Amino acid sequence: MANKRWLFILASLVLLPTGLQAGHPAVPAVDNRAVIVVSEVERNLVMEEMREFLHGLHSIQLALARKDMNGVALAARPMGLILHRMPQAMRERVPQTFVQLGLGQHEIFEVIARDAVAKNDVNQTLGQVAEALTYCSGCHDTYRFVVGRTPVKPAR
Ligand code: HEC
Repeated sequence: MANKRWLFILASLVLLPTGLQAGHPAVPAVDNRAVIVVSEVERNLVMEEMREFLHGLHSIQLALARKDMNGVALAARPMGLILHRMPQAMRERVPQTFVQLGLGQHEIFEVIARDAVAKNDVNQTLGQVAEALTYCSGCHDTYRFVVGRTPVKPAR
């Protein structure tokens, strides 16, 4: 009996912070990410790009599993073009940190593409892909898009 009670207390402690115990999904009620106001067109364009990135990661992963390093390079090259495909007006408006994260992503995927062929080392590429993912999650943790009237002046 005493054992069961301890189990219950332990489970409560683990589940309490997640809100699962009360039947709520484990999401925070407040979204603290910084807002970037975008037009509907801008949002659609960048979101399509984002979904392409997820496809790209899938292609890289598949190629790595087959040790197909040319395939890795082929999939990695377009993944650096996050800022290049962004409309100029939006590029000038987004915060500097957003741009830096985009540039970081660009550089690491260039390195992945180059090293995949030059070094032919699956383990090294795996480490580089992990580094690339820190740019994805770093930016997602920090920013969100809200469709609205886009400000004329850069928000810096
Ligand atoms: C410089 C910032 C930045 C980087 C880097 C970035 N993203 Fe995003 N991504 C965003 C923002 C902002 C959103 C929209 C989030 C929101 O409004 O809630 C988003 C949304 C997404 C979505 C949702 C798309 C949809 O249709 O709803 C996917 C998938 C995604 N990103 C994948 C990736 C992947 C994979 C990477 C890395 C290879 C990546 N992103 C890198 C900023 C970024």
